[in-house]
Formats: sequence, structure tokens, C-alpha cells
Amino acid sequence: MERTLIILKPDCTHRRLIGRIIQRFEDKGLTIAGMKLMHIDETLAGKHYAPHQGKPFYPGLIEYITSGPVVVMTLAGPNAISVSRKLMGKTFGFEAEPGTIRGDFGMSKTYNLIHGSDSPESAATEIALYFKPEELLEYAPVTDTWTNKPGEA
Ligand code: RTP
Ligand code: MG
Repeated sequence: MERTLIILKPDCTHRRLIGRIIQRFEDKGLTIAGMKLMHIDETLAGKHYAPHQGKPFYPGLIEYITSGPVVVMTLAGPNAISVSRKLMGKTFGFEAEPGTIRGDFGMSKTYNLIHGSDSPESAATEIALYFKPEELLEYAPVTDTWTNKPGEA
């Protein structure tokens, strides 16, 4: 079962959108393996966004992600990484399609509500930044019998 790291960013928390956005992942059939409300400090933000270090938007990105509480989740399911990225939509709110999270809730370049891992490698690195192995639960929701056919992916 694939895992991905999702962060509901500070705009999401301040705008009280947490429940509505988590609902979309649950509705799709992804399983919450781990979840916490936390404040990301500069050190952790630097590790998380190390691949973007040196880019023009990097300082603003660090300022944004450390500016308030976030909800960090590990989601599990078949193709969890690509399914989550599709639910999120394109990076910039003004480009994201209606029906996606970024397409429905915002128009900003920077304040784009949500982060999702973009590859199996980044998912493994990012999950380890936020969760100890014992904080991640493995369980099969009973509805999986009908939403995820065993052996399909
Ligand atoms: P994320 O990592 O947050 O899931 O977003 P993403 O893969 O769709 O986009 P990425 O290229 O990884 O960019 C990381 C975050 O940096 C901010 N950003 N600002 N002003 C700009 O040109 C710009 N470009 C990127 C966004 O907050 C984006 O989510
Ligand atoms: Mg990214």
C-alpha cells in the first residue's frame, strides 16, 4: 500500500477548511495512517523544502509554512501519491481546475492550502520528517472491500 505525506498549510487552518479538505481524501477512499496538528519551525521547514533552496520563492515559502498551525497527515492507499496530487490540483490556485482542492478554495500562487509528496522517494523522506514509525497505524477500513479491490494495485 502506497503512503504519501499531506500538509494542510496555515491558510487552511486559519480559514477553518481542515474538515472539508480531509473529507475529500476520505471520500476518495484513502486511509489516514497518521495525523497531527503542529507548528513547523524553521529547521524542519528547511529540511522539508530543501529541494527548493535557492529559488526566488524559497524565503516566502518558509515564512508561509512556519506562520501558523498545520495539519500533517500520512495517507495510505493504492497510488496514494498520484491520487492525492490529482485531488489537490495544479500548484497555483488560479491555474488549478475547478473540482480540485486548490481549484475550489483559492487563487494564490503561494497560499495554496496544501502540500502533497510528489514521488515515492520524497514521500519516504517527508513521512520520516514528521512521523515516528510507531505513530503510523496500519488497518484496513471495512469499506475497502468495495472501494479498493484486493490485488488491483
Ligand atoms: P507542494 O510541494 O507544496 O505540494 O506544492 P507543489 O509540489 O505543487 O509545488 P512545488 O513546485 O513543489 O512548490 C512548493 C511550494 O512553493 C510555493 N511556490 N511559490 N511564487 C512562486 O512562483 C511559487 N512557486 C512555488 C507554493 O506554495 C508551492 O506549493
Ligand atoms: Mg512539491
